[in-house]
Order: sequence, then structure tokens, then C-alpha cells
Amino acid sequence: MSNLTATAVANANLAFVKYWGKRDDALRLPTNNSISMTLSAAQTRTKLIFESALDADHVYLAPENRLASPGFTARVSAHLDRFRDLAGIRRYAEIRTMNTFPAGVGIASSASGFAALTLAASAALNLHLSERQLTVLARLGSGSACRSIPSGWVEWVAGEDSESSFAYSFAGPDHWPIRVLSVIVAQEEKQISSTDGHALTRRSPFFSARLETLPARLEAVRRAILERDFVTFGQEIEQEALSLHMVAMTSPLETGGAWQSGAYYWTPATLELLLAVQQWRRDGVPVYFTLDAGPTVHLVCPESAVGDVRSAVAGLQARQPGRAWQVLENQPAPGASLVASPA
Ligand code: DP6
Repeated sequence: MSNLTATAVANANLAFVKYWGKRDDALRLPTNNSISMTLSAAQTRTKLIFESALDADHVYLAPENRLASPGFTARVSAHLDRFRDLAGIRRYAEIRTMNTFPAGVGIASSASGFAALTLAASAALNLHLSERQLTVLARLGSGSACRSIPSGWVEWVAGEDSESSFAYSFAGPDHWPIRVLSVIVAQEEKQISSTDGHALTRRSPFFSARLETLPARLEAVRRAILERDFVTFGQEIEQEALSLHMVAMTSPLETGGAWQSGAYYWTPATLELLLAVQQWRRDGVPVYFTLDAGPTVHLVCPESAVGDVRSAVAGLQARQPGRAWQVLENQPAPGASLVASPA
């Protein structure tokens, strides 16, 4: 058998209408459609080799080349099984994967990770899958990963079953020069994973209220993107992010043996930024925020306002000495792709 290897890159994506709650946990079928932008500054690169000599899958995290945890390796192996079944082979793989950004801080590394793994596995095994099929497979690894396969502005259709729950690009990366400044205010891994957060949603009395608002919001956000209507877009996405956190913060759970009233993903710096954004708009800066399941605040603005937003963030950061915030500047990016010469 020829050399079964491929290297793929995929970027993380930022949802403006969020995936929060599943209809089917095993198939990762979401309760609602979601809309995202692929992020240029947050990329995963994954090299995969299926080798007959291996007795298990080995996942190495570059650049340190340390072995991944058993839990993560098991999730990767379960994903590779889908491709081994399709190709009818039983070889294990060596996987080397690297992120250009920190994990667990509100930028979904599972999205870029499982998208890159999906494309690399499909190419290494010569499966010749369509983009839609790739998004379906990526979704089974991590829901949001399906939105990291297509390019630019992407919608994930909730669907009825596995085959009809897929993602597609409705506008390319050059459609609208929006910038996202992702302000990483804390580097620690969050306490409650997205996967756990999804499972908690039904405990919130506000989850059904959120679902009722979503069809109209989805239409409004898609239309605002297509018409490049920044004000409507900004107002909708800011309310949408708060709607997710309203559900999260009112989904009770047990942590460390004690009852907790909800999943809190914010730090004090998160709230400080959310309030500052309101002031910056009063000062005439066109900027809105969105948040995922983490403390990172994503500041969304037109390309022309990047300088103002950058200095506003620097001013806020300087107010308290010792703050080590990291800012990633993103623009809409292409979808997942293969790398011709493996590193
Ligand atoms: C808050 O895709 O990480 O980022 O399917 O369990 O792997 P799993 O969840 P994941 O959830 C992402 C949630 C979110 C919102 C979003 O990206 O739409």
C-alpha cells in the first residue's frame, strides 16, 4: 500500500449566531442553525500518517511534541475510526498537530483541530469526499468543526439527521472587510468544556426563550452580512452572545461536589471589556462584541476602525499594571486546505 499520509490546515471560526445545545449528543446535531466567520489568525496544522507498524493511534502536540492526553487521543481515535471504516483499513496513525493560538480560552480549537484532522484523514486515505461530506464528518468530531471546512462566511444547517446537518459558505472571505480583534484576557483552560455546556442548556428556563428568538435572528444576521449592514449585524451579534451566556449562567451544575448556579465563562476583565465597548460606541467607534464559551472577548469592527479599536484596548489594558492580554487580529479566512509538502 502506498504512503498513507497528508497534512492539512484549518482555521478556527467565530460564530455570530451560536451553536449552544444539541438535539442528538452522539451525532452532534444542533438545536439550531448557526453562522460564523473563519478566523485568519487562529490555525491548526495537522500531519497524519497511517502506518502498519503502529499498535495504537499516537497524537503529538507540536511544537513541544508532547503526547496528547488519553482523553483527547481517544476522541481523535474515535474520529479516525470513521475514516478507517469508510476506507476499509485497520491501520493506526501517527498524528502531529499544532495550533497557532492557545486552547480553551474562547477560541474553539476543537473546530480547527477536527476540521484539519478530517481533511487530512480523508486525503491520506484517498476518500475523494465532497466539501459537504467533509463538513458532515468534521461535525461528528466536534460540532463547530463543520464550519471550519468551508471558506469565509459560513452557515451550519441544523438538519434532520446526520447527512442533512452540514455547513456551506454563503459569502467568500473577500465579501466584507470585517475585522475581529480577539482579546485573550486569561490563558487558563476553562472549567466547563463546550461539550458539557451544551448538555447543561436544557436546565436553563431561558433556553426555550433563546430558541424562539433564533429563527428571526438567523435571518437578520445572514441578511446583514450579505448586505454589509454593519449596525444591524453588530446589534444582533452582541445580543446573541449575551443570550448564550444568559442560558449558560442559568444552567445549574455540580462542581467540586458543590452546587453551582450556572456555567460562568467570564472573568472580571471580560465584563470590563463588554462595558468598555458600550462606551467606545458612544465615543463614535463602530465596534461590537461577541463571546464564545470562554473569557475571550471578540471585538468586531470594520477594517477602517481597527486602529481605533486597537488603541482603545491598549488604553484599557494599561489601566491595570501587569495585565498580559493577547490580541489576535482576524479577518475572514479561506476554508480548510491540504498542504502540498508535509513539514
Ligand atoms: C460556544 O463545537 O466545541 O463555541 O460539538 O461538543 O465539540 P462540541 O462543541 P463545540 O461547541 C462550540 C460552542 C460555541 C458556539 C459556536 O461555536 O457556535
